[in-house]
Amino acid sequence: MRGRNRDVRHQPVHHPLFARSYARLAPLADERAGLGALRDELLTGLTGRVIEIGAGSGLNFARYPRQVAEVVAIEPESHLRRLAVTAALRAHVPVDVVPARAEALPVKSEAFDAVVTALVLCSVQDLRRSLRELRRVLRPGGELRFLEHGRARGRAMALTQRALDRTVWPALCGGCHTSRDIVAEVRRAGFEIDTHRRLRVPERGLPLPTSSCVLGVARRLTLPVDGERPGATDDDGGPPPAQDQD
Ligand SMILES: C[S@@+](CC[C@H](N)C(=O)[O-])C[C@H]1O[C@@H](n2cnc3c(N)ncnc32)[C@H](O)[C@@H]1O
Repeated sequence: MRGRNRDVRHQPVHHPLFARSYARLAPLADERAGLGALRDELLTGLTGRVIEIGAGSGLNFARYPRQVAEVVAIEPESHLRRLAVTAALRAHVPVDVVPARAEALPVKSEAFDAVVTALVLCSVQDLRRSLRELRRVLRPGGELRFLEHGRARGRAMALTQRALDRTVWPALCGGCHTSRDIVAEVRRAGFEIDTHRRLRVPERGLPLPTSSCVLGVARRLTLPVDGERPGATDDDGGPPPAQDQD
């Protein structure tokens, strides 16, 4: 890593406590809050080359359909990445786990048929830059599949989310923000939303700041978006992938 560069693309993602508790709790949430079934829906019908962003401990890997030729799984956090490497061995498709962050993907432009994000766009430090990168690496017409939590539609919860995001939540939850308007940001980044469904997770019980979820498919528009030069990468000159130390 280039030593003094404070550009977000070169900063490590280091949330050791969060990473450990997430690794323990996420399988329970898959089972008890219905996230496992939503992951299946997220991935169904995928084919070709896929890049998964912020793969965590690899909970999606065993769920990829066999028609997927290859998954490049980006994970910047070292503990989760080690778990992801083990999970990759149990997948039915080849999964290559790569240390990098969404803001600077170390892959060629237009190299993938699909990009997958699950509960990640809340945590990336620079959402707009990340979405530009996701768009860059997708072939024209390629799909962005997303399962994300975001801004609640009720006023009281939306205010609560904003307050949490400005105070304790990101520090406690590995950089997570609860109030991002994911669908609006995806559109703004040059995707057309094919389908999306608003969900409450878990379906029953008291709503949590992360309960407003969306499961969707967006397609990369072929026309350049504001300020984009056709064919240019987000980072001409190519940064080294940001990574933390194992
Ligand atoms: C809540 S976890 C979700 C993990 C996994 N996608 C899942 O569904 O279980 C958020 C993930 O985003 C990753 N992350 C945080 N900042 C990131 C960034 N800038 N680029 C890519 N991934 C990031 C974290 O390391 C973590 O693995």
